Amino acid sequence: MIDIIDLTVVYPDGTKALDNINLSAKKGERIAIIGVNGAGKSTLLLSIVGVVPISTGSIGVDSCNVTKKTLPEIRKMVGMVFQNPDDQLFMTKVYDDVAFAPRNYGMTEGEVASRVESSLESLGITHLKERAPHRLSGGEKRRVAIAGVLAMEPSVILLDEPTSFLDPRSRKMLIETLAELPHTQIIATHDLDMVQELCQRVIVLKDGVIQADDTAEIVLADKKMLEELAII
Ligand SMILES: Nc1ncnc2c1ncn2[C@@H]1O[C@H](COP(=O)(O)OP(=O)(O)O)[C@@H](O)[C@H]1O
Ligand SMILES: [Mg+2]
Repeated sequence: MIDIIDLTVVYPDGTKALDNINLSAKKGERIAIIGVNGAGKSTLLLSIVGVVPISTGSIGVDSCNVTKKTLPEIRKMVGMVFQNPDDQLFMTKVYDDVAFAPRNYGMTEGEVASRVESSLESLGITHLKERAPHRLSGGEKRRVAIAGVLAMEPSVILLDEPTSFLDPRSRKMLIETLAELPHTQIIATHDLDMVQELCQRVIVLKDGVIQADDTAEIVLADKKMLEELAII
C-alpha cells in the first residue's frame, strides 16, 4: 500500500527533518507515529502527499511513486487531515467544503452530491451541512475536515494530531469514528491512550530517525524507551 524507502527530507534552510526512513504500511493497517515536538511526524505525513519535497529516497503508494507529476493521482489515493482544521476549511458552507476536492477534480454535481452525502453520513454530521464551518466547535470542524478528505474516496488517510484541541466527549466520538473507517490510517499523535485504543502498530520517531517500529502492545509497554525519548 505505502512503501517508503531510504527517505530523507531536508528543508531549504538546511534542517534535516527525516533521516533515512524505511517503512511500509499494509492495506487496512492503523499506524501511530509518536515522538516529541520536532521529531518529524508532520514532515513524514506531508512528504507522503507531496506537500514537502523528498530530498532523497522514494515513497510509493500502490506502486505509484510520489513525484510532482503523480501528485493528482497520489492525492486521490491518499487524503491528509491537517493538524489545524482552520487550515483546511475555508468555504462559507460545510457542504461546499466537503464538495471542494471532488468539484476540483471535475466530477459532475450528481457525483459530488452523492459523495458529500455519504461522507457527511459516515462522520455523523449530515445535520451540519448548511452551517458555516468557522462557527463550528473544534470537534465538529475536525469531522468536517475528515469528511472533506473522505469525499475523494481515498484508500489511505493521514491524520496529524487529530485529537488535539478536542474536549473529552468529542475526542471519544472521533476515536470511535476512526475505528469504524476501513481505510489505511497513519496517525501522528501525542495521545497514547488513543494509540492504545486504535492502532495495531506504532512507529517512534526521534530527530527524524525511526527508533522503534513494532506492535502497539510492545512499544507502549516499553516505558524506559518512552521516558528516555521524553514521550512520557
Ligand atoms: N518549513 C520548515 N522549514 C524548516 N524546518 C522545518 C519546517 N517544518 C518543520 N521543520 C523542522 O523539521 C523538524 C521536524 O518538524 P515536524 O515534522 O513539524 O515535527 P513534529 O510534527 O514531530 O513536531 C523540526 O526540527 C522542525 O523545526
Ligand atoms: Mg507536527
